[in-house]
Amino acid sequence: MNCFSTQIISWYAQNKRDLPWRHTQDPYKIWISEIMLQQTRVDQGIGYYNRFIAIFPTVYDLANAPLDNVLKLWQGLGYYNRACNLHVAAKGVVSELGGKFPTSCGELIKLKGVGDYTASAIAAFAFKIPIAAVDGNVYRIFSRYYGVFTPIDTTQGKKELNALAQEMVDKSQPDVYNQAIMDFGALMCSPKKPQCYDCPLLESCYAFRNGCVDRLPAKSKKIVQRTRYFSYLMIKQGKYTYIHKRQGKDIWHSLYDFPMIETAKEVKPVTIVKSKEWKELFGKTKVNILHMSDLTKYPLSHQILMTRFYIVELGSAAYLPNGDFIKIKIDELAQYSTPILINNYMAAEAAEKYFTDR
Ligand code: ADE
Repeated sequence: MNCFSTQIISWYAQNKRDLPWRHTQDPYKIWISEIMLQQTRVDQGIGYYNRFIAIFPTVYDLANAPLDNVLKLWQGLGYYNRACNLHVAAKGVVSELGGKFPTSCGELIKLKGVGDYTASAIAAFAFKIPIAAVDGNVYRIFSRYYGVFTPIDTTQGKKELNALAQEMVDKSQPDVYNQAIMDFGALMCSPKKPQCYDCPLLESCYAFRNGCVDRLPAKSKKIVQRTRYFSYLMIKQGKYTYIHKRQGKDIWHSLYDFPMIETAKEVKPVTIVKSKEWKELFGKTKVNILHMSDLTKYPLSHQILMTRFYIVELGSAAYLPNGDFIKIKIDELAQYSTPILINNYMAAEAAEKYFTDR
């Protein structure tokens, strides 16, 4: 065993977090946890994981569930495509593999939504295959430890760091080693404010010795974020409202949201009311605006959503807004999976006051 992994493992023995997915070798449960942890912090992930496993304890339960139930449990995690992929992959494991998970990386990676990282993590944790699961944490640790300045968002940078990471795996306990490096990346060698003065690797760490911890890992480009403006129309028609199931390649596939007018720039409410989309929705029907929220910012990884909610009352009880909408009772809305920003607004004072089934 090399010195790096010995030290990481002995640090882990004293500092490890007790996490629910560390009490199992079931590849199904490990898979669920790893997909969830790609998009949420560990502390938030625990609740999601426990709820998900309680409802879908086996791959059969997941495969046999309606997608809407899966999305409901995913609500708030974001990247809903990942939940759709989980569902597709679970169906595949059941129908094509008799419910048995593949046991090698080469086979695991064929599951929908499973990439190199997830396949390696499942292989190491469930089957003790000596392989490193390499994610952003691992790139960060190795770029600092070895002083690798090749940007981690380039093929070359990934290749160099991946080679180092694979070399360092403790072949006799790859499961423990991989868990250890994940905690080490989260708790010690963190992106901001790493705990260098408590680090057992301080003396051999290139970045620490050369005073460049804050410059590593190196990146070649900044993420460009696109800003989008969403004006949501929460229609109140007596006890009823209208929702829409999102389709296509955009964010939130298969989730439900309200009729929405998107603009590329910030526009005044009067422009929304006079827009072509508004006219298409409501025709000549009388629409009474009950409330309008402030413009609220929701940053996603590659987009910034600027959202405003309009609570509008339809004059005609019979009018059906034009478009692909489902008419539901307002108090049934909670049964549908909606983007978290809609849940947040539903809990706000204005929605409580104006948007109820009264
Ligand atoms: N992040 C990704 N996978 C993890 C795991 N198994 N434990 C802790 N953090 C993680």
